[in-house]
Amino acid sequence: MVLNETSILSRRNLLRWAVTSLAFCGFGKQAALAMARLRTAAEARELFIGTAVAADALRRDSSFKEAILAECSSLTPELSMKWAAAEPSRGRLELTDMDEIADFARFNGLAVYGHALLWHGSIPHWAEVMLREAPDWQHVRNHIATVMPRYGDVVRYWDVVNEPIDTGHREDGLRDSPFLRAFGSSYIERSLHDARVFSPRGRLMINEYGLEYDNQVERDRRYLFLKLIERLRSKNVPLDGIGLQAHLDLRKGTVFQNAIKEFLQEIEGFGLEVVVTELDVKEADYAASAEQRDTTVADETRRYLETVLDHANVKGVTTWGLSDRYSWLRVTDEELGAYKGAWKDGSGPGLNRGLPLDAMFMPKRMHAAMASTLAD
Ligand code: XIL
Repeated sequence: MVLNETSILSRRNLLRWAVTSLAFCGFGKQAALAMARLRTAAEARELFIGTAVAADALRRDSSFKEAILAECSSLTPELSMKWAAAEPSRGRLELTDMDEIADFARFNGLAVYGHALLWHGSIPHWAEVMLREAPDWQHVRNHIATVMPRYGDVVRYWDVVNEPIDTGHREDGLRDSPFLRAFGSSYIERSLHDARVFSPRGRLMINEYGLEYDNQVERDRRYLFLKLIERLRSKNVPLDGIGLQAHLDLRKGTVFQNAIKEFLQEIEGFGLEVVVTELDVKEADYAASAEQRDTTVADETRRYLETVLDHANVKGVTTWGLSDRYSWLRVTDEELGAYKGAWKDGSGPGLNRGLPLDAMFMPKRMHAAMASTLAD
């Protein structure tokens, strides 16, 4: 849908009006914001808002489904599109889960964010052997050629390469992955060129993590990622944008807003789009009260989003799960060792509370922080 400026402004005003009226009717501003759906807030500024989903949870859990439909306009397959899931043995496709996610999206008018075509973390065993012993690009190309057209009607953004950067190995900052060892550093441009063939209009992305904090590794990662983009740009490789995973981590302190801003200015200068692709918050202190934990998580989310959303080339925000019930962020044994018992309902240290809804699908302060930052 194309919105002109006036209608965007009036939608934003409508949202503000709704929040103010709810607040006026006796709900606190926090409560009013918690009631504002993320989707309403995001759409008011023409952003998509999504969550990662596992097909299994989508199939079994009707409350999860309802929450998705209320809050989201986009879904990212958490596992089902990755190579190891899609082609577990050579030539045998296993796309039932992915088909189900795509059908759910089509039926409900949601978009799918295509994650991820090439990722060192999900290479089927047979392909690892192939890459090591007899590298043949045709197999990589086949994966791209199978997945992209099959979901091309519902996917607009594609993570063509996921996590290509790693520090401490090579001067160019590229990860020493099976793809790099098999085909050299040109595997990135090769996959982008192939992706363009199989998706002439899709937005082709490189998705990366570890770009938020003020430490040496993340400073290097920001620099090396920009260098990679610069090289690709100078060769006219088809790249439309970058994904910022944004796995925030309170153990690292608080996000370094100035560095993120500078980084995004560079990205804007390259004419690229930006999507926040995997937002969540790893907690540092499970001993605090649930309220305190939620406040800390919400504050970090707000600091991050207000910095990122300030840039006009940002197109969407996806959280890595919607509810703490399905977070990949586990509280480690070591962390758990510090507590007696694990509260499985998400009210205590048993679960990490770094997503907008708690394990019972109730909106938390992070939800309100997202809604208000999106609405601002
Ligand atoms: C994770 C899933 O959440 C886990 O369930 C799975 O075991 C491993 O992958 N960066 C990414 C995601 O790009 O694909 C990862 O997802 C999390 C880190």
